[in-house]
Order: sequence, then structure tokens, then C-alpha cells
Amino acid sequence: MPDMQELQEMEPSPVEETPSQVRDSYFDMEKSSTSPPNNGTNFLGLSNQHGALYYLQRIQKYSSYTFTAFGLAHITNTSIIPLITQSVPASEPYLLLTRPYYQGLPAEPLLIIIPLWAHVLSGIAMRVYRRNLNAKKYGDDEESEKGKGYFSNTFWPKVSGISKLGFQFTPLLIGHIFINRIIPKQFPGGSSNVNLSYVAHAFAKHPAMSFAGFSAMLTVGCFHMTWGWAKWLGWTPDQTTAMGGERELAKKRRWYIINGLAVALTALWMAGSFGVIARAGAAPGWIAKQYDEMYRMIPVVGKWISVIDSKVFLWADQGNALATFTLHNDPDLLTLRIDQI
Ligand code: HEM
Repeated sequence: MPDMQELQEMEPSPVEETPSQVRDSYFDMEKSSTSPPNNGTNFLGLSNQHGALYYLQRIQKYSSYTFTAFGLAHITNTSIIPLITQSVPASEPYLLLTRPYYQGLPAEPLLIIIPLWAHVLSGIAMRVYRRNLNAKKYGDDEESEKGKGYFSNTFWPKVSGISKLGFQFTPLLIGHIFINRIIPKQFPGGSSNVNLSYVAHAFAKHPAMSFAGFSAMLTVGCFHMTWGWAKWLGWTPDQTTAMGGERELAKKRRWYIINGLAVALTALWMAGSFGVIARAGAAPGWIAKQYDEMYRMIPVVGKWISVIDSKVFLWADQGNALATFTLHNDPDLLTLRIDQI
């Protein structure tokens, strides 16, 4: 007989698939919807043996494979190559070389847009599905009696750390795509005008916003992706199979290793982006004018971006502030800038 010390308290974890015999006899209510009695396939050719969770989990997992492929190409172009060449102009040809593989049709929707939506929406769909299942199992009526609504916390699955990072990453990534893909498409020549010098230009003219935006996106994104991969590989602290006194130690070790890898990835990306691209300076002549127009199209922030950066300059160094004030010719901003002085 094992004594109490040998017994290990485990975190409850969702069972991916309940064997149909068990489920049919135990969860009567699910019989009609999720476990048809035959082993055939449905009209989509998908096996009837698996429930919705099975497919949603796989959509969430396999969609992330495509971001990983794109992410590896992207960190190479925007950090590793600039680090090696130590020059933005020398790094541009490599960016152009890989672009056809992920921009335009059909690569962009297949590799990025569809998997991105699939990854986020499958996660939300699983959440809603599990919430409704919990409500059915543990008393939906009781909750409505208490006057709580659908969105009360009672039945919603806990939001894991990885998911929290994912939800923070989504608007940051959408903003990044908007600035680098959607805005340039509104201009003649589209994305062919946009390259590493477009980003360098933003850092030169709007340093506060650029550093804040890129720091947030790179940190949150690298942590989400590293922890996400750790989960797919079964390496997160909660997934350890160690038992007894070893378990806490194993969990701690895994926590440090995963965070260490996430820090290293973030640092690598920042090294090339901040260390080389951000220091390359503003674009010259009419290209600079076009880039300025593009950045002014960013909703809300676009109008204020230069004012915010002017304030930062003013705070940092009075001399620099004057240089920033001469960059723009928008009359509204000019009035505002003069007020600042
Ligand atoms: C290498 C790429 C990626 C990997 C390996 C990955 C992995 C994961 C994993 C494992 C989860 C589930 C977390 C959990 O069940 O506790 C998740 C959720 C999530 N991911 Fe990602 N992810 C990646 C890229 C992205 C990207 C690019 C976005 C941004 C659009 C994103 C947004 C989200 C969101 C919003 C969730 C939360 C869904 C929910 O829990 O309802 N992920 N990701």
C-alpha cells in the first residue's frame, strides 16, 4: 500500500478523448451530438469517432507550424542577416529574395492569414465549447437562478499563461501587419516600396513609439511562441511526469529553461532590429516623404505620433527637440508643436 507521501496531487487536465463506451454510458446527454454509433466518416470525410475538441485542438496546433516557418524566415531577414552584414542596404536583397515565398497569392493567405485566424478562432471556439459543456454538466440552471449571465466566470475554462500572452500578442501583430502590409498597399507600387529602410525611417523619426511598439511585440510574441512550442512538445512545467519530491524540482527547472530560451530569442531578435536596423537613420528625399505619408495613415496614433516623439525629445534634450520640430509640414501638427514650445 502506498503511504500518503507517495501519492501525488495532480492538476486537473482535460481528457482529449473519452472512449465512446465510457462516454455513452456516463454522459447520456452527449450521445446524440458527439458520439454517433458508427465508425464511419461525416460529409467532410472526417472521422465520426472524434469530437469537436479533437479537431479544434489539432487546428490550433498545426496552424502554428506555418507561423513558425514564416517566423524563422522573418527573424533571419530582420535580425540575423542585419547582424551579420551590419548594414541595412546590404540586408535588403535577402528580404526581397524570400518575399515571394510569403507575400501575395496564394502564399500569403495559405501561410499567414488563414492559419492566423484558424489558430486564434479555434482557441476561442474550444473555450466556448468547454464552457457550454461545463454549464451542462455542473448546472446551468443554478447559475441562471442566481441571475448571472453567460459571461460570468463560473463555467469558463481558466485562461492559461500561454493564452494570456496569445491574446496580448494578437492586437500587436495585427498592428504590425497593418503598418507593414495594409498601409503600403494604398500607395502606388504597394509593398515594393517597403523594406528594412521603411522600419529604419520610423525609428529615426518616431523613436519612442517605434521602440515601445517593437519591444512589446517582440517580447510578448517570443514568449508566446517559445512557451507554445514547449506545450506542443510536452515540456511545460505542468506536463512533467516526475513524481514525488522530484516533481517540484523538475517543474522549476523547466520553468527556468523555457523562460531562458524565450529571453534568448527576444534578445536575438532585438539585437538585429534595434542594434542595426533602428540605427540606420531616416530615408532620403521623396522616399522619406512617402514613408511619412504612410506612417500618418496609422489610425489615431498616426496624427499624434510626431507630437509624442517631440515631447520625448523635449524631455531628453532641448537641442534635439528643435530638430524634430522641423520634420513635419502638417499645419495642424505645426500649431500643436509651437504650443509645446
Ligand atoms: C510559433 C507559433 C505559435 C505557437 C507554437 C503557438 C502556440 C499556442 C498554444 C500552445 C496555445 C494554447 C495555449 C493553452 O492552451 O494554454 C496558443 C493559444 C493562442 N495563441 Fe498561439 N502560438 C503561436 C503563434 C501565435 C500567433 C502568431 C498569434 C497571434 C495572432 C497567436 C495567438 C494565440 C491566441 C490568441 C491564443 C489563445 C486562444 C485561447 O486560449 O482561447 N499565437 N498558442
